[in-house]
Amino acid sequence: MLSRIKEIAETLAPRLIEIRRHIHAHPELSGQEYQTAAYVAGVLSSCGLSVQELVGKTGVIGELEGIGQDDRLLAIRTDMDALPIQERTNLAYTSRFKGMMHACGHDVHTTVGLGTAMVLSQLDPLPGRVRFLFQPAEETAQGASWMIRDGAMHHVNAILGVHTFPSILGGCVGIRYGALTAAADDLEIVILGESGHGARPHEAIDAIWIAAQVITTLQQAISRTHNPLRPVVLTIGQISGGRAPNVIADQVRLVGTVRSLHPETSAELPGWVESIVDGVCQMYGARYTVNYRRGVPSVQNDPSLTQLVEVAAQEAWGSDRIQRLDEPSLGAEDFALYLEHAPGTMFRLGVGYGDQANYPLHHPQFQVNEMAIVTGVVTLAYSAYLYWQQQPPS
Ligand code: NI
Repeated sequence: MLSRIKEIAETLAPRLIEIRRHIHAHPELSGQEYQTAAYVAGVLSSCGLSVQELVGKTGVIGELEGIGQDDRLLAIRTDMDALPIQERTNLAYTSRFKGMMHACGHDVHTTVGLGTAMVLSQLDPLPGRVRFLFQPAEETAQGASWMIRDGAMHHVNAILGVHTFPSILGGCVGIRYGALTAAADDLEIVILGESGHGARPHEAIDAIWIAAQVITTLQQAISRTHNPLRPVVLTIGQISGGRAPNVIADQVRLVGTVRSLHPETSAELPGWVESIVDGVCQMYGARYTVNYRRGVPSVQNDPSLTQLVEVAAQEAWGSDRIQRLDEPSLGAEDFALYLEHAPGTMFRLGVGYGDQANYPLHHPQFQVNEMAIVTGVVTLAYSAYLYWQQQPPS
């Protein structure tokens, strides 16, 4: 079966590169993926999949029927949106749209999703169904929740995902057991003091000085009150307050992001932040508001599905082309939201070059080694095949 999958994927390679370049040249921002979605729907229909459009606003679902021998349903998720970045690559298929660029490899993800659908539709039908989720708005962390709200995860038993990674060589696959990305929450703190003359601080409550204490205490307390083996990063990235050099500020607003890897740590964070702010403000007589907004949780890769993808990749490419990733990323990925409905795993697809500079994701000169497309397609298609070879968990 593996050699058949590889053979079909190799034959499709020129067509897949063409698809990828088309998508790359026509990037669309989060929630605006109308042309991309229509294009994806067209390719899926031409392979005989049943297609549902406008799922999660601009998302697309393609479903490949199996022979119905196994009622499990496997989902494969790829994302379609681009970034508000002006491309600076000079490629022949560079972005045709000003200020928009596929700089996070979602053009490759979409192509790999389509290629996997093409390959599987050319094989004998699988024992069960495969549902392809083409998700919008990953960059704004909205698309997964839109898709889920529209039923994308109904009846799904397992889900696979993929993300490009420029620091891994093209043709290689990165496998990560456990946490792959961090939980990312938004934080807004407003310190409310009492205005007064800059020369008479004792008659006022200085919101700027108290805000400084809050920031310092938060940063120090992280190292003293959290398990150091369970990382938390808290960044206040924005601060505003005060009106004049000689007027004590009555209000300061702090805005930031909080990242963590362990679900138990994430659960404690809102209460922890509030207790620090409360303690400092009480000490100096200030009032406050804390608005802690949950963002996406951490992607926790399921052990047995991760092993499934690792075995598939290993058989397809040999262990030299598999990289076990020792560390997670503190970036965020809304793939995590699907994992609240079914176990899943996301692997990293190497898109690096060995002989030229590799720019990071979200860089205006980011480029991908296109040999990764076949690697991604074969890895996913063969993982899907192996999925039904495994006994369902009892
Ligand atoms: Ni991305």
